[in-house]
Amino acid sequence: MSSQNPSLNHDKDTVHKPSKEFSSKARISSMGAYRKLYKESIEKPNKFWAREAKELVWQKPWEKVLTWKAPHAKWFDGGKLNVCENCVDRHAAGPRKNKAAIIWEGEPGDKRVITYGQLQKDVCRFANVLLKNGVKAKDCVLIYMPMVPEAAIAMLACARIGAVHNVVFGGFAAEAIADRLEDSGAKVIVTADGGWRRGKVVALKPVVDEALTKSSQVTRVIVLNRCNNSIAMEPTRDVWWHDEVGTVSSKHIAKGFDSEHPLFVLYTSGSTGKPKGILHTSGGYLTGTYSTCKYIFDMRDEDVFWCTADVGWITGHSYIVYGPLANGVTQVMYEGAPNFPDFGRFWKMVEEYGVTIFYTAPTAIRAFIKAGNPFPEAHDLSSLRLLGSVGEPINPEAWNWYHKYIGGGKCPIVDTWWQTETGAILISPIPGATPCKPGTATLPFFGIDAAILDDAGKECKAGEDGRLVIRKPWPSMIRSIYGDKERFKKTYWSDYAGGIYSAGDGARRDKDGNFWIIGRLDDVLNVSGHRLGTAEIESALVSHPAVAEAAVVGRPDDMKGQAVAAFVTLKEEFVESENLRDELRNHVGKVIGAIAKPDDLHFAVGLPKTRSGKIMRRLLKELVCTGRISGNITTLEDGSVIDSLLRSIKR
Ligand code: WTA
Repeated sequence: MSSQNPSLNHDKDTVHKPSKEFSSKARISSMGAYRKLYKESIEKPNKFWAREAKELVWQKPWEKVLTWKAPHAKWFDGGKLNVCENCVDRHAAGPRKNKAAIIWEGEPGDKRVITYGQLQKDVCRFANVLLKNGVKAKDCVLIYMPMVPEAAIAMLACARIGAVHNVVFGGFAAEAIADRLEDSGAKVIVTADGGWRRGKVVALKPVVDEALTKSSQVTRVIVLNRCNNSIAMEPTRDVWWHDEVGTVSSKHIAKGFDSEHPLFVLYTSGSTGKPKGILHTSGGYLTGTYSTCKYIFDMRDEDVFWCTADVGWITGHSYIVYGPLANGVTQVMYEGAPNFPDFGRFWKMVEEYGVTIFYTAPTAIRAFIKAGNPFPEAHDLSSLRLLGSVGEPINPEAWNWYHKYIGGGKCPIVDTWWQTETGAILISPIPGATPCKPGTATLPFFGIDAAILDDAGKECKAGEDGRLVIRKPWPSMIRSIYGDKERFKKTYWSDYAGGIYSAGDGARRDKDGNFWIIGRLDDVLNVSGHRLGTAEIESALVSHPAVAEAAVVGRPDDMKGQAVAAFVTLKEEFVESENLRDELRNHVGKVIGAIAKPDDLHFAVGLPKTRSGKIMRRLLKELVCTGRISGNITTLEDGSVIDSLLRSIKR
């Protein structure tokens, strides 16, 4: 287990209480108010969630708040709603019609402002385009887009017609798309010619073309012209976004779908080679994202919210598209890299658009620290009132810098713990109430019964490490792994009996009850806030003709949190070389995507194995973390591999 928070003694940490100025205006303005509502929400969760869900528009009211046959939950059963209507139409129909929904900036500096009224027209047009191209309710649509408003428009259009979107992060490679296509069964792809990143066009359509060489299931590819880069169009299959929207009406009636109608599937890494398709449904997911935005980001009509995630990750789904739009706020969306043309880009945009709430990842904050204070100091960041962090534990140094240099010492920081599977934030400070300690996500959100259990299922005492679990169902929870109910049960519900969700994270609580997340307990790495399965990277390495065997472990990294360290045994006829090392790293980039490229790649004559043939990753982990192997090696099949491994990492 890797840890950004090695110290056990959290009781001496500096506590940052929210200012009176902030608290007095906040929805929840004291710990007393938090505790009272939390108690009520845990004693009567259905009452709490029903009250939240009632703030959404339902075309038919639900009959039952929760039907729970562990691990299967139905929230707001019998109810019908249209998720897109909740995010767009209800605002477009009222005083928010001409309010900016999305203020978008392209990396080259081009700008667009889309009002709620305009967003409604754009979404309706694209919903009609999907219908015209044969997409029906429950069909899956794969979206592979840069960070442009059309990515959100495509997602909302799917939701509008009851289609299930499967967004694939634009940094993933052709094989990763092909795997997800096959698993999700999508017949239609929405993509773009390319997107801008660090001053260059990153081509996307050619990657889709490559993914499609192995599959014939896709009948239509809808292509947005973002960059004018030259791409091939297959005349019987590919159509241009702008041509298509020109042929349809800007009107479409949003029909209600069952609360449990599938909304999207999003793939994430697990302990085995195959990524899992996390399935989320409609009414519960929207209630969770809506409610967490309202209380944790304390969103108001006058706020300008900016979440810097990519729509290809769950954070982009929940806190760019669904949560903020359901709250009717104005958001900033940005296409490119944080350091283009330099590390001042974010701060220039915060100043330009008067961003009030800013949500980013610790890895980005560490990169900003390294780049130096003159970047934020050159801009007026006084519009900011609240900061957020997500993706990995935020190390206290990053927390303090964020607080001082970005928040001007006055903004609370919500360190939000959650997962693709949880759909919405589950553990976080409530900004007007919770005293923050740098490094802890603090306390559970309303209705969330979080606990830390030992192997026997007993609740851990303060300071003791255990597994983070959620003991009661919550509306935005995962409903299944797409097409694999058994894996769903086994992965999340089999550590403990009685319908307890096991998050896969190690954690401990301090004396005040704050949750300190230690890190993943499974073979999943957290690299720059992105989940990468070691098995996935190993299988990419082994797919190269030179590789006989591979083992991947994480090592601590100052910038990325964790870095990828790979050990590779070559087939007899291949010889170790720097060229081959680069080739193997690039091969992983080609199979999965650049984010998965090993940072270190060690050639090894053999890998440490038990007598039953299992690779002893714990030894490799110790080796990359400490440069030594002192752990128990009595179960090792061949002790001589240790010496060669020690030599391999010294080289
Ligand atoms: C980690 C991202 C500590 C954790 C929303 C979790 C965190 C995994 C935090 C989920 C946090 C996320 N503090 N660790 N505030 N937020 N994590 O599915 O290990 O991409 O299990 O969802 O990220 O990653 P995922």
